[in-house]
Amino acid sequence: MNPVYAPYPATRLRRTRQNSAIRDLVRENSLSAGDLIWPVFVRSGEGIEEPVASMPGVMRRSVDKVVEAAKDAAAVGVGAICVFPYTGLEERTEECAGAWDPDNHANRAIRAIKAALPDMVVMTDVALDTYNINGHDGFVENGEIVNDRTVQALVKMALAQAEAGADIIGPSDMMDGRIGAIRSALEGASHQNVMILSYAAKYASAFYGPFRDAVGASGALTGDKKTYQMDPANSDEALRLVARDLSEGADMVMVKPGLPYLDICRRVKDAFGAPTFAYQVSGEFAMIQAAAMNDWIDRERVMMESLMAFKRSGCDGVLTYFALDAARLLNA
Ligand code: PBG
Repeated sequence: MNPVYAPYPATRLRRTRQNSAIRDLVRENSLSAGDLIWPVFVRSGEGIEEPVASMPGVMRRSVDKVVEAAKDAAAVGVGAICVFPYTGLEERTEECAGAWDPDNHANRAIRAIKAALPDMVVMTDVALDTYNINGHDGFVENGEIVNDRTVQALVKMALAQAEAGADIIGPSDMMDGRIGAIRSALEGASHQNVMILSYAAKYASAFYGPFRDAVGASGALTGDKKTYQMDPANSDEALRLVARDLSEGADMVMVKPGLPYLDICRRVKDAFGAPTFAYQVSGEFAMIQAAAMNDWIDRERVMMESLMAFKRSGCDGVLTYFALDAARLLNA
């Protein structure tokens, strides 16, 4: 775009900023509760809400409490929720069989949310890390995170989630070929309306630290995820990944983390025009919360500014731990 305007003083760009009604008129982007997906952590037990120390304000909840939380989300206009399981070390194995157990916490939570709130859009996480004894997203054989055997397991995991009533399958594992494999399995099992939001451009990021506490993976993870998650130095590769996942049947794509990767969001949206999401991840959330708790920043304003930044960068929506707080402010 080449803006055409007269030189000063014929053009004074401050004219359109002079009061709030004018600013409302010329505003280019908007944020609403409907743009937000709220990640929640589900654990075993009943009546439990336990705080995650590194994510102030975030809870791990038993299934009954997750249902209550989903009702709170619906009440403030957040129409989508993403369920992540917390698993203790004792629930993890090398074979990761918990991942496709129809009765694991995540699948029980999906069923319970859909039973209580049929219109709530429920998204899942597809990756083995929350069931894996060594914290990796795929099977580990002789120190290697193996691709093809992992994809077969991810397909079983995704099918169990679809059976439980999930609306959006969220493969976060970064294995090659998983989108096509999951899509054809869903078609084959009459789940043609179940969507896939692919974590297409997911970077090997230190910003996931607090999340790994939340899901119980911090103590479990051996080594790093650099052989499957992206190198933060790369940008063109993100476009190749998005192109690949769309060509295999992804309905929507994600860039993750969020704020440090807004350049990628913009490139992805411009290149493909597909529904594009960013994940404002645990470390981004924790940084804002920590600074706000020290009174170093204005929490509400920083939260809203950070979310608007995603819209401005071309995202259609955002996964954010701020979803409920932001929605409440937007409704106020
Ligand atoms: C794992 C997964 C991760 C996140 C979502 N799914 C962590 C990882 O890849 O190690 C991170 C979310 C966050 O940091 O908020 N498959």
